[in-house]
Amino acid sequence: MGLFSRTIVPKSFIGVDIGTSALRVVELSGWGDRKTLKNYAQLRVESLYDKPFRAYEQNSLALSSQDLARALRALFEDAGMKNRKAIFSISDFSSFFTSFELPATITRKELESAVQFEARKHIPLSLSEVTMDWQILDGPDKGKGTNPYRVLMVAVPNEIVNEYQNIAKIAGIELIAIEAEVFGVIRACLPEEHGLTLLIEMGAQTTTISVVENRKLYLSRSMDQGGNALTRRISEALAIDYLAAEKEKIAKGLDVKVGETKILLPIVDLIVTEVDKFRQVAERQEKKTIGKIVIAGGSARLPGLAAYMQSKIGVPAEVANPFREIVYPPVLEPVVQDMGPAFSVAIGIALRGFVS
Ligand SMILES: Nc1ncnc2c1ncn2[C@@H]1O[C@H](COP(=O)(O)OP(=O)(O)OP(=O)(O)O)[C@@H](O)[C@H]1O
Ligand SMILES: [Mg+2]
Repeated sequence: MGLFSRTIVPKSFIGVDIGTSALRVVELSGWGDRKTLKNYAQLRVESLYDKPFRAYEQNSLALSSQDLARALRALFEDAGMKNRKAIFSISDFSSFFTSFELPATITRKELESAVQFEARKHIPLSLSEVTMDWQILDGPDKGKGTNPYRVLMVAVPNEIVNEYQNIAKIAGIELIAIEAEVFGVIRACLPEEHGLTLLIEMGAQTTTISVVENRKLYLSRSMDQGGNALTRRISEALAIDYLAAEKEKIAKGLDVKVGETKILLPIVDLIVTEVDKFRQVAERQEKKTIGKIVIAGGSARLPGLAAYMQSKIGVPAEVANPFREIVYPPVLEPVVQDMGPAFSVAIGIALRGFVS
């Protein structure tokens, strides 16, 4: 077949984010650098149950695989997904991240087994219980340099991988990959080239703080703190029900007060303190300064959050826009503005499908 007679069929992939507060799916299609939003959908947990719940109780999902599969199938059908090729994200809370060095003298061929060997020392579970993935952050330049390899390793309990495979099977979805959420957020929210950045993903239940440069992840840590804790605090302090507290939070953010006291600050400060610790560790390790803070996740739009982070940490902070390189119809602009940061994981995970 001649080069010019070939029809280029755009590829299309679906990113699936099973979060504590919502299931989100995004279908992207395209080729090269141009990706188009084909479909998106979300199912908020409140629409299934009358109060939020913890989707991850340790390593298992609170909803049964059957229920999740049913919900996903319904979402796919409602959204009119054109295909069934999907990538699932795994909560950073269930993933184990570590990084280590290996000598520059190791050849590329030997690297795989050296990484496996070294991983044993770093992973608290037996290697037969986990699925591992790794990437090289730094290393000898084309065999010439003497810098050691720096390897980032992610391990996920097989139990979770099996559960996701099972959910996909019941839902009739072709699961082509599983990836830790943080990699999706990085791909969706940061350009290929950028300086040392603090990336914060604040969801309903957890907040993940990561240090990234040129889309390479150097450090990452998840905290069991998120938007739900803020809503609970408002509900208790103002003696209003959960849904009213949620509205109050979205309207006033950090300015929600009882008397003169801004009641959300103590919770937000737990996160800010951790972010600042990360900044210090990263700056010491990398011998560079952090140039920017990018905030993603549903809680990124908490009024006042970015400005507060910026003033406390002394680094410019902005809300992530995971749609910035995605083509979408102009009528969706308000939706993108409103829900954009909450779709960071789903978009980034869908983009994974295009990585060759
Ligand atoms: N405009 C807004 N302002 C403040 N908070 C918001 C806003 N929109 C959504 N949220 C909060 O974002 C949270 C949901 O974020 P997200 O959808 O990223 O979480 P999730 O992925 O379901 O949870 P997790 O990742 O923690 O498992 C909720 O606590 C919700 O109240
Ligand atoms: Mg999430």
